[in-house]
Amino acid sequence: MRIGLAGVGRIGAFHASTLAGLDAVDDVIVADLDSALAERVATEQGLSAASDIDTLLASGIDALVIATATTAHAPLLRQALAAGIPTFCEKPVAASLDETIALTELAESSDTPVHIGFQRRFDLGYLRARDAVAAGDLGTIHAVRALTHDQEPPHAAYIPTSGGIFRDCSVHDFDIVRFVTGREVDSVYATGENKGAAFFAAAGDVDTGAAILTLDDGTLVTATSTRYSGGGHDVRMEVMGSAANLAVGLDDSLALRSAEEGVAFPAGPPHASFMQRFLAAYRAELTAFCDVAAGRIASPCTVRDALQAFRTAEACELSRAQRRLVSMREIPNASAAPAGSSSSSSPTPATKATA
Ligand SMILES: NC(=O)c1ccc[n+]([C@@H]2O[C@H](COP(=O)([O-])OP(=O)(O)OC[C@H]3O[C@@H](n4cnc5c(N)ncnc54)[C@H](O)[C@@H]3O)[C@@H](O)[C@H]2O)c1
Repeated sequence: MRIGLAGVGRIGAFHASTLAGLDAVDDVIVADLDSALAERVATEQGLSAASDIDTLLASGIDALVIATATTAHAPLLRQALAAGIPTFCEKPVAASLDETIALTELAESSDTPVHIGFQRRFDLGYLRARDAVAAGDLGTIHAVRALTHDQEPPHAAYIPTSGGIFRDCSVHDFDIVRFVTGREVDSVYATGENKGAAFFAAAGDVDTGAAILTLDDGTLVTATSTRYSGGGHDVRMEVMGSAANLAVGLDDSLALRSAEEGVAFPAGPPHASFMQRFLAAYRAELTAFCDVAAGRIASPCTVRDALQAFRTAEACELSRAQRRLVSMREIPNASAAPAGSSSSSSPTPATKATA
């Protein structure tokens, strides 16, 4: 399979090396707005480079991976759908809610498969939590804690096009909460603060955010995200039920140290980045995308799934701005998926922890 990769910044260069190592992939061709960067990454990794995106799309690729800056996702996804090229697109689908809704409807009217990059769906810990909830092992779920704490901020130029902390970071938690619990979000209350670099406030963003989500069965979720977690990259989930509690990410790489006397756990060292934390999940995700592109499986994360996570982030931004509870009924949604569309999503737990 020949895979085209658009965008070779932080995550794109990382995806290039993952893709090149997959059995299903014969060739990876990279392109970037910065063609010198594309050439450099191609040379470093022994891949080929296209001079620009149009050349890449016309080069007879079997599938496309979009890892450009967020603002370029939507136009590239439209181009790929028009050309009938199966596409993996990094989250978020688009920079705005209107564009995400439009792309949901476009993707669902097309036969071309689209897989959105929420890699936690391929992490064994989250998959086991999903299975435990679906099997009833935890009893009735009362509370969930989800967090995305980056060790350090991305480069300053990333922030103005990122969509803000809820659309960029917490959106992973919003997706995985749906995936693990099988429930939809009913309402949110969110806030955020800046105590770090000035470029967050300059972009109208915050460096730390907190949200309380009420799910449609009354489960309460707290979701926090920060760009400053000096103790290490910290991504976890705790699911608290009437019968048992389960934690995802509670291992020797946990970015926490105990204040209790004589407690040696965790042995460390903590993860330093999201690439390290989710190395296996990113590989499993792109392996699954090759199966999607070859028509062997349906998309494991549809544009509509991504839309639901994005709508939650949108509600959080509204709540933060207006300092009030926001009902998800206030947030526009796509029209119902056409009957028989393989792009329609269901939050019902079904996947087993065998990925
Ligand atoms: N799933 C995850 O865990 C995860 C992690 C990090 C980033 N992301 C997503 O991946 C995307 C890229 O993030 P990043 O951290 O690599 O950003 P980055 O700024 O490091 O890299 C973005 C790259 O896209 C290129 N680019 C911008 N516009 C382009 C265009 N029109 N055509 C071709 N190339 C273009 C830039 O030149 C740059 O090289 C973002 O949308 C982000 O939300 C996902």
